[in-house]
Amino acid sequence: VGRPLHYFEEVGSTSDVAKQLAEEGAEHGEVVVAEAQTAGRGRRGRSWFSAAGRNLAFSVILRPDLPPQRASELTLVASVALCQAVRDAGVEAGIKWPNDLVYQDRKLAGILTEMEAEADRVHWVVLGVGVNVNVREAELPEDLRPIATSLAEARGEPVPRALFLAAALTRLEEWLDRHAEEGFGPIRAAWRDFSDTLGREVSVRLGDRELVGTAEDIDDAGALLVRTGGGLERVLSGDVQLLRP
Ligand code: BTN
Repeated sequence: VGRPLHYFEEVGSTSDVAKQLAEEGAEHGEVVVAEAQTAGRGRRGRSWFSAAGRNLAFSVILRPDLPPQRASELTLVASVALCQAVRDAGVEAGIKWPNDLVYQDRKLAGILTEMEAEADRVHWVVLGVGVNVNVREAELPEDLRPIATSLAEARGEPVPRALFLAAALTRLEEWLDRHAEEGFGPIRAAWRDFSDTLGREVSVRLGDRELVGTAEDIDDAGALLVRTGGGLERVLSGDVQLLRP
C-alpha cells in the first residue's frame, strides 16, 4: 500500500482524485495524499476541516476480492489499522463506532469509505482518511474546538507527518492482508479491543429517530448492537454520541 503515492500540494478532495484514478484503472494500494484540501468531505455529506500542512488527508484505492455486501468490513479494517498506528505514536486512542478515532471523547481522525460495485463484484473501494496530526486546538474552527483534538495536543509534542503516514500505510497493509487471509473474525476481535464505544451509554441518531441505550457489541457484519429498554437493537449505520464515560 502506498506504491505509487500520488502527492499534491492542493486538491478539492483526495478521495475525488482517487475515485478518478480508480475509474482510469489505478491499482490496488495506490494512494493520493495532499497538503491541503479545498473541499474535504466527511461522512453523511458533511464537510471535513483539515489544517493545511498540519494534518493528513489521504485516500487509498483498494480492489478487494469481496462481495459488495462485505465491503463495509474494510472500514473497520482501516479503523483498527489507524488506531494501532496512533497508539504506536504514543496516543492511547480508541475507536468510536463505526470508525472515528477518539482521544478522551474528542475526534482525532475520521474515515470515509466509498465504492463502486456491481451485484456480485466490487470494482473499487476508496478509503479516505483524515487525521488531525499537528493542528493546535486554537487553530480549529470554533465549533470543532470542544469535540476535536490532535495527536500533537494529546501527546504534548508534534508528530512527524511523513513518518506517521508511512506507519499508517504499513499497518493498513498488515490488516488488509490479515482480513484477506482470515476474514472478519480477527478484525472484529481487534476492533472490540480498541473500542471506546462498547459498554458505554450511547445515543444513536437514526434519521428522525433517537435511540438511547448501552452499546453491547458489534456483530459479524460490523453492526452495532445497542441494549435499550425495548430490547436489543441492531444499528447498521447512524451517528453515535458517547454519553457518560
Ligand atoms: C468523517 O469522519 O466524517 C470522515 C472524514 C474523512 C476525511 C478524509 S480527508 C481525506 C479524504 N478526502 C476527503 O474529502 N475526505 C477524506
